[in-house]
Amino acid sequence: MNQNPAISIQDVEKSFRLGLLRRRHVALQGLSLEIQPGEIFGFIGPNGAGKTTTIKILVGLLRPDAGSARVFGREASDPAARARLSYLPEMPDFYDYLKPAEFLMHCGRLSGMPTGRVRGRIPEVLARVGLDPAEKRPLRKFSKGMLQRIGIAQTLLADPDLYIFDEPMSGLDPIGRRWVKDLILDLGRAGKTVFFSSHVLAEAEAVCTRVAFLNRGRVIGQGPLAELLRGHQTPTEILLRGEAARKDPELSALARIEPSGPDTLLLVAAGQDPGPALARISAGGYRILSMQQPHATLEEVFLRALDGEAGRSAP
Ligand SMILES: Nc1ncnc2c1ncn2[C@@H]1O[C@H](COP(=O)(O)OP(=O)(O)OP(=O)(O)O)[C@@H](O)[C@H]1O
Ligand SMILES: [Mg+2]
Repeated sequence: MNQNPAISIQDVEKSFRLGLLRRRHVALQGLSLEIQPGEIFGFIGPNGAGKTTTIKILVGLLRPDAGSARVFGREASDPAARARLSYLPEMPDFYDYLKPAEFLMHCGRLSGMPTGRVRGRIPEVLARVGLDPAEKRPLRKFSKGMLQRIGIAQTLLADPDLYIFDEPMSGLDPIGRRWVKDLILDLGRAGKTVFFSSHVLAEAEAVCTRVAFLNRGRVIGQGPLAELLRGHQTPTEILLRGEAARKDPELSALARIEPSGPDTLLLVAAGQDPGPALARISAGGYRILSMQQPHATLEEVFLRALDGEAGRSAP
């Protein structure tokens, strides 16, 4: 039997009506995405791209104007679809007079879990997010990082198959971001599906199996991370001792030559074999100090996709 995708979004359109004149503002246009069970999927886009709108559609808080959004084969608006997912909102609204265990009890009951099961899970879940199960302070006394942990604790309660996190790393310090990253990796190892939005490209790069870039409500690039990074080649950098190589005409035909302090940097174009330049370096007796091919970062791939998009929409 064919397994349903964890998430299937097809040709989704969503607009909002703004102001007294009810002007139409298009938030999503022709959005299609498919995420298979077990994937860790990064949904990357600048402010206002439509990430939160997409996520709200997936968790049944908004309806698309057209197209369909399904979770494990069920319409996202169907409560049965929600039973298999948990959601960390972008700006969780906490009942801040509650203590952590009380808050989790409230969330568990709201999602339909039996009281006994929630009670049994609370100490384990609090320990998992690094909070003291005996914590007696109310949430209003928590820092942003601790609140993010409590927000994530709430998603772990029911042990669902799909986790949807809206900007799980935003506002966290490097330790907090690494903690979220490790948690996402753990969920992936446990066979769960994780769909999260982010601008923190370095973290997305460290955890995702696949990413999609969203801009102005449209997907402008997507694919397995390794493939996107491979398709984006960088120049080979060869650092030579001293200045002697700078005036070598044979070398300048093979690579771009730039001063680098007292030394000389050769840049062999992306995708070009550095062999001939190395042969010339050897024949000329130049001394190599270092040689490297820096790998492209997700940030570069993303910015290039955005540039391509700007180029296409330019008059
Ligand atoms: N309830 C709403 N009413 C009117 N416009 C909205 C509403 N929600 C979102 N929008 C608009 O839709 C567009 C997409 O917003 P969305 O919040 O989905 O972006 P985002 O990618 O999550 O951005 P951010 O990175 O800032 O969180 C924006 O232009 C936003 O102003
Ligand atoms: Mg958002």
